[in-house]
Amino acid sequence: MSQPVLSIRNIESFYGPIMAIRGVSLDVHPGQIVSILGANGAGKTTLMKTISGVMDPEKGTISFDGQHIQGLEPHKIVQKGIVHIPEGREVFPLLTVDENLSLGAYTLTDKGQIDHDRDLVFSYFPILRDRRAQEAGTLSGGQQQMLAIGRGLMANPKIMLLDEPSLGLSPLLVQEIFDILKRLNDEQNMTMILVEQNATAALELAHHGYVMEIGRIVMDGTADVLMQSEDIRNFYLGVQEEGARENRRWKRKKTWR
Ligand SMILES: Nc1ncnc2c1ncn2[C@@H]1O[C@H](COP(=O)(O)OP(=O)(O)O)[C@@H](O)[C@H]1O
Ligand SMILES: [Mg+2]
Repeated sequence: MSQPVLSIRNIESFYGPIMAIRGVSLDVHPGQIVSILGANGAGKTTLMKTISGVMDPEKGTISFDGQHIQGLEPHKIVQKGIVHIPEGREVFPLLTVDENLSLGAYTLTDKGQIDHDRDLVFSYFPILRDRRAQEAGTLSGGQQQMLAIGRGLMANPKIMLLDEPSLGLSPLLVQEIFDILKRLNDEQNMTMILVEQNATAALELAHHGYVMEIGRIVMDGTADVLMQSEDIRNFYLGVQEEGARENRRWKRKKTWR
């Protein structure tokens, strides 16, 4: 297989005295969609913040394109080609769709490149072209998520970190957005890390998955293998199908490897 484009080794990240990431290692190969699964509080968002430089790891290394990037400023990491689309579909509500997209290109100076990227975003999200003069705060939740992804694309990334893009959206909209992510992967060869609690949808899209629990990776494998895994089916995919009762069962189950 190819060399990994992103390679994380034994990182630890803290909030004050609390260790939220407890020695995580993972690899992402060029053109892959890698999904990070895990219950609420497992450390998925902290891991994304650590990759994008919003948080610095206390220990461990993060290599991207063969260079160590841990500890770099977030904008330097964007310049290297890593874009983080945070959870909660953050857009600037009082700015227009167009202005939000322009902000995504803040590390670029080539106007031709920026125009090209904007056209690319509009080709994947035609609704954003229709709404380009509208204030982002007046968009629907699904459209705001599309704008957040579109703004990330404007940085012309090599890899996108998507933190729970399905959160709070209807199943139909989740499908629509995931179909577009799949097209971006197929047609643009866009590499992605997809953080999800929606394991079924994520594993349908992903090539490889890692499962996190209390700051650690407790399982990893190809998406097919994870989908078939008895543990995942009972204690993870079950969460989606059977609701809150299962969710409680998942939380009680401490060791399930
Ligand atoms: N700003 C913060 N300050 C202190 N603890 C935090 C903060 N953000 C998250 N945590 C804790 O770190 C752990 C991992 O959280 P997080 O990475 O947000 O998990 P996930 O994204 O998987 O739901 C949780 O125990 C959470 O309570
Ligand atoms: Mg999170």
